[in-house]
Amino acid sequence: MSEPTFADGASDRSRQLSDPGNAAGPGLATAAAPGPRTPSTHPSEGSVPLPSEHPARRVVGDGGVADASLLQELRGVRTGTPSVWFMRQAGRSLPEYRALREGTTMLDACVRPDMAAEITVQPVRRHRVDAGIFFSDIVVPARLAGLDVEIRPGVGPVFDRPVRTEADIDALPALGDDYEAALAPIREAVQLTVAELGTTPLIGFAGAPFTVASYMVEGGPSRDHLRTRALMRSRPDLWARLAAWVAELSGRFLRAQVLAGASAVQLFDSWVGALGEEQYLEHVRDHSAAALTHVADLPVPRIHFGVGAAHLLLPMLGAGATAMGVDHRLRLDRALELLPSGTPVQGNIDPSVLFTSEQARFAEARSVLAAGAAASGHVVNLGHGVPPDADPQVLTDLVAFLHAQGTAQVATAPQGAPQA
Ligand code: CP3
Repeated sequence: MSEPTFADGASDRSRQLSDPGNAAGPGLATAAAPGPRTPSTHPSEGSVPLPSEHPARRVVGDGGVADASLLQELRGVRTGTPSVWFMRQAGRSLPEYRALREGTTMLDACVRPDMAAEITVQPVRRHRVDAGIFFSDIVVPARLAGLDVEIRPGVGPVFDRPVRTEADIDALPALGDDYEAALAPIREAVQLTVAELGTTPLIGFAGAPFTVASYMVEGGPSRDHLRTRALMRSRPDLWARLAAWVAELSGRFLRAQVLAGASAVQLFDSWVGALGEEQYLEHVRDHSAAALTHVADLPVPRIHFGVGAAHLLLPMLGAGATAMGVDHRLRLDRALELLPSGTPVQGNIDPSVLFTSEQARFAEARSVLAAGAAASGHVVNLGHGVPPDADPQVLTDLVAFLHAQGTAQVATAPQGAPQA
């Protein structure tokens, strides 16, 4: 397999790590020693060095991101000042995004490197968040692999031909060199983005097998994912083939972003909360693990996030994540009770407070900081994505407020806020 941007010869190793044995438990996905040239690398991350041009190879003082606060928190090192980014920080809430996107479809924007890079940087410039999240979508890899998928505004991803039968699965495109070549605009967009971001780290992402496969099976967004869950039970063999295909698709998309310059990754399993723990463990976890394995040899934190997935927090960590994203339904101090000690967490301001008074908003922010205070590391985020009609100024002010809350204030100040 060729990796045109920064070939590192690690692909074979990455494949070998696909053994489901690696999904056994938290922190066990890689048993590698810390990398020699990235001082903040955590033992649970891989040790294959990133390409020499990669921003995580240099410290902030040298224009890189190796010791950026957000990456430290993700590695379980407290920095004293909250680090924050928002899921869906790029997008329709920003007037500059709406202006730039005019006349270009969502998926076309994702494969235009200059546009994807500019859209990624817009919220960092405006809100002064501590990371960029690469502007793309969980279905972009499927489009690059040749499937007919579009994103309908106000609806979401829609697949032309849903994948439901053995014949549909037989017809899935092979993920060979053609797919690797099709990822070129992604690599180029990431390179442009990190050059622009400088000392602010870029988070790469992909959709987890269950969530992406659910769009493929249902044909579009679904409330209860019934067809997907039925396929899992009635034809576990077909489900396993489909999920393995998506794991390879998403995993290689993740790897391309990291080698091109992303310094952390997030695997979104947005709709996994529809599953019980038993179904998750039997049919999903090993496929999510396979996706994450594609970057497990690289020295980058791996965040895993699902909505309404409190009951799956520990099993999802077991898919090989190094930090867990938590939605707003579960308080962080409760999440910490469910996770092995030392697990960094990310979250979880309720997005609804973006539509309340500033007083209520800041109280929620303080409460989230206090609930996360006992974590080894905490990256502040919303419990789910920024709604398109959120007022961008509210987000900018929230970031400034969070940055003004040092550890000292969190430990002593919050009135009425629960202490962790
Ligand atoms: O700041 C960012 O987070 C930017 C990157 C990003 C997008 N999609 C851009 C986008 C990310 C990380 C995603 C991931 C994604 N896409 C997920 C996982 C995260 C989550 O929200 O749970 C999911 C489930 C999807 C599928 C998807 N794509 C949905 C449900 C929608 C919304 C449809 C709508 O219009 O309401 C999309 C479209 C989409 N993805 C938009 C953006 C900015 C809106 C499209 C537009 O602006 O026209």
